[in-house]
Amino acid sequence: MTITIKNAEEIEKMRAAGRAAASLLEMIGSHIKPGVTTNALDEICAQYTLETLGATSAPLNYHGFPKSICTSVNHVVCHGIPDDKPLKSGDVINIDVTPLKAGYHGDSSCMFIVGEGSIQARRLSRVAYESMVRGIRMVRAGARLGDVGHAIQTYAEQHDYAIVREYCGHGIGVGFHEDPQVLHYGSPGTGTLLQSGMTITIEPMLNVGSRHVKVLGDGWTVVTKDRSLSAQWEHTVLVTDEGFEVLTLRNGESI
Ligand code: MF3
Ligand code: CO
Ligand code: CO
Repeated sequence: MTITIKNAEEIEKMRAAGRAAASLLEMIGSHIKPGVTTNALDEICAQYTLETLGATSAPLNYHGFPKSICTSVNHVVCHGIPDDKPLKSGDVINIDVTPLKAGYHGDSSCMFIVGEGSIQARRLSRVAYESMVRGIRMVRAGARLGDVGHAIQTYAEQHDYAIVREYCGHGIGVGFHEDPQVLHYGSPGTGTLLQSGMTITIEPMLNVGSRHVKVLGDGWTVVTKDRSLSAQWEHTVLVTDEGFEVLTLRNGESI
């Protein structure tokens, strides 16, 4: 296992990549409405990444992934492939973007509700966000990844949602997915010791029903086995001696 510790120069590049991811998610929100296809959202993000951000889309061709972003609708947990199906009022969608800028990755995702959305959908999205925040707030040099996972799992389960176990957060930098694995469940005081200069993602997936998932025949799309709703949020986070810096923070967001 090789965890990279970023120096000051590398941290500046991670900040630029993180800002790029944040601005993509800030930009795409106004395009999400009934009737728009996830392919259209993919094309808008691909063009904005190249032309406005001066970056490339890391998901495109990553282990054969065919699009520039992941779009995960309703019971899709993660890695949904953009297609020509229009969104409809009441859908909940996760948009996951990973621009690669000047050699460094910024990875972030957020939930959007098309139209008003059901009470359950809004509650799930809010609890998923808050569970990510609880995890982020545990980050500091000297803490362990088990502290992060435990905070996320405890919050989600207190609200009667299940944490998906098969997919996790990760180290990030020059590599899209670096060590360590960042589990969204666990026990305090266990796991990898966090050190200043590590950059990791925290990206819990919460299901309304059981935690179990399956991968569809396309080899990518992960869905809940019971077809219950699922939600996910993701930030890229720098570990510091004082605590954390969220590199993908959006305008108006504070953690
Ligand atoms: N962005 C996802 C993550 O948070 C990974 C997507 S891999 C892809 O780690 F190939 F599906 F794009
Ligand atoms: Co990620
Ligand atoms: Co991501």
